[in-house]
Parts: sequence; structure tokens; C-alpha cells
Amino acid sequence: MTHNILVIEGDGIGPEVVGVAVEVLQKLGLDLNFSQAKAGYACYQELGDPIPQATIEAARGADATLFGAVTTPPDIKNYRSAVVTLRRELDLYANLRPIHSLGLKGRHYREGLDFYVVRENTEGLYIGLEEDFGDYAIAKRLISRKGSERIVRYAFELARKTGKRKVTIVHKANILRLTDGLFRRTALEVAEEYKDFGIEPQELLVDTMAMRLIKDPENFEVIVTTNLFGDILSDEAAELVGGLGVAASGNIGVSGAIFEPVHGSAPDIAGKGIANPFATLLATVMMLQHLGEDAAAERLKQAVAKTINQEVLTPDLGGTANTATAKAQILDNLG
Ligand code: NAI
Ligand code: MG
Repeated sequence: MTHNILVIEGDGIGPEVVGVAVEVLQKLGLDLNFSQAKAGYACYQELGDPIPQATIEAARGADATLFGAVTTPPDIKNYRSAVVTLRRELDLYANLRPIHSLGLKGRHYREGLDFYVVRENTEGLYIGLEEDFGDYAIAKRLISRKGSERIVRYAFELARKTGKRKVTIVHKANILRLTDGLFRRTALEVAEEYKDFGIEPQELLVDTMAMRLIKDPENFEVIVTTNLFGDILSDEAAELVGGLGVAASGNIGVSGAIFEPVHGSAPDIAGKGIANPFATLLATVMMLQHLGEDAAAERLKQAVAKTINQEVLTPDLGGTANTATAKAQILDNLG
């Protein structure tokens, strides 16, 4: 089956790391049809819009989108963040972060981890409803039954498809009684439907969850939570397996799926040829899984793990490789 892949390179090191991913994808022998679209600061300078409608429609029409990174300048009024706009326009409600130990021995590295953090991506404190009252300010937090149901269902489906047996529902319903109360009740209802599949729900308060991620992370399989909690916990969890250099994420939803490295456009090293392509390649692994190309995904993941094991690492990971030599090693390891 042909998969239509949209490629959005973006700014800074975006084109460098996505370039590696496209070359690697072409070596996998799949039937892929690539197209390109623009987004980001360079796109804004050229076309007056950081995320043109044509790009949004292209992402909507593609089977999957591979996104590099964009620069978001802080001082331009009414500037729209490309990623945030795409998430909203395509209703990409699930933010998925795999936490897999690949051997990248950093200070906080833990061997043997293999779990997912599933974060709600459209509601919570991110709806932008803040009010200024002078000496105080208030932020509103949206939790809906529909939003809670679909993210929890996504997490349980993920568990079912990947053979996981435990889904941990993370909230703060003891304090946020109405909002997280609704999230919790809805989550437990959805969980009932999955008992027949042998998938057990577990509940944890978010503060306990943060502690347990350090104490016994190997005891988790799928973690599902609301937007802000998920933002924080997913960064914490990423640090256990190597941090920014290998952190990948997927934004999956109603009208599309976008896969990206967690890092930004790294303007400090752009054009120097030393950008680390691993995070983007692991986002590519996620994209292949999403497309149902599990064998190719596993092949690519193993090639990245082997390259890490051979210590062919870019300077951000303490190595002496550059983007080109890391790419060559990956291609070689693909066999
Ligand atoms: P950043 O992630 O771009 O860089 C942080 C540090 O990590 C820098 O020292 C950078 O050189 C290094 N780094 C990041 N990715 C790397 C890679 N693949 N290889 C080697 N080193 C790497 O975050 P920063 O500096 O806060 O933001 C820079 C720009 O990126 C800003 O305009 C920001 O708005 C944007 N950004 C975009 C994101 C996206 O497109 N999803 C996410 C985060 C930031
Ligand atoms: Mg974050």
C-alpha cells in the first residue's frame, strides 16, 4: 500500500534532521510517496504566514506528517505557532511519547524501560483562558467528557495493540474535584470496557506519579493524563532514557497524525552539520508504527539502538560524530 507522507522541514536544524530521516526512509524499501510543505519563521518571512492554509490542508490530506522543528520568535505580535495551530486545526488530541531504553547511558539513564506517556493535547490549562485582575490573575481549565473519553480510549487501545496489561490513570481529583473528578470518572468508565481484554486500570495522583517515575519506572506500561500533567511527566520520563537527544513524540487525532522530535530548531548549531538526528529517527519509527509498518519500524529502531551501542554519537550526546557520519552508520546498520 502506498503511504502519502508530508514532510515539513521547518527552521534551523529542522531540514538537517528531517533530511536524514527521509534518506533513511527511502532505504527501507516501502512504497512511500513524499511531498513537502512550508511552516515556521522562514516561511513567515517569505509568505507572511508561519503556517499557511495550504500546509494545514496538506497535513490533513496526508497519511502522516513528519515535522522537523520551527523557530518561534517571541516578539512578533499575533504570531501563530505552527505546531500549536496544526494540533488545533487537525484536532490532534493525543500526544504520545514512547519511553524506551536504547542504551544511551546518561546520568539519569535507566535500563529496561518500555512504556508510553499519553497526554491529552487539546484541553486542560492550554485553552488560553486567562484573566488579569491587576494584583491577581486567573486561568481556566477545561476538562470535557468527550475529551477525557477519547484520550483514555486512545491509551487503552494502545495498550491492547501493543500487548500492554496496565494503564495508569493520573489525575489530581482530590483537589480539582470537578475537572479532574470528571476526568477520573470518565476514565474509570472506559477502563471497564477493557477488563475483558485483561487490561487493568490503576489510579495515581500526579504528585505520586512524579515520584514513582524516579522510584520504580519499570512498573509502568501506559500512563494517561490531562494536558499540563502530561507535559511535565513526559519530559521527566524522557530524561530516564536519554533526554532531548532521543525524545520523540506523535500528535495523533481526528484529521491527521504528526510525528516530530521534541527538541526545537537549535539555532545555535544550525548549519554546522552536527545536529543529532536520533530524535527525528525515533519519531520516524513512531510514524511507521502508525502506518502499520511494524517490521520496518522495528528495523529502524534496532538500527538506531545499534548506532547508540557503537557510540557513534553527536557532540550533544558526548560523541564526536557529525550528522553525516551518524547517518552513514544508521544506513549501514540497516543492512
Ligand atoms: P532547542 O531544543 O532548539 O535547543 C536547546 C539546546 O539543545 C540547544 O543548545 C541546542 O543546540 C540543543 N539541541 C536541540 N536539538 C538538538 C539536536 N537535534 N542535536 C544537537 N543539539 C540539539 O530549544 P530552544 O533553544 O529553547 O529553542 C530554539 C527555538 O526552537 C525557539 O525558537 C523555540 O521556540 C523553538 N522550539 C520549537 C519546537 C518545535 O518546533 N516543536 C520545540 C521547542 C522549541
Ligand atoms: Mg514540553
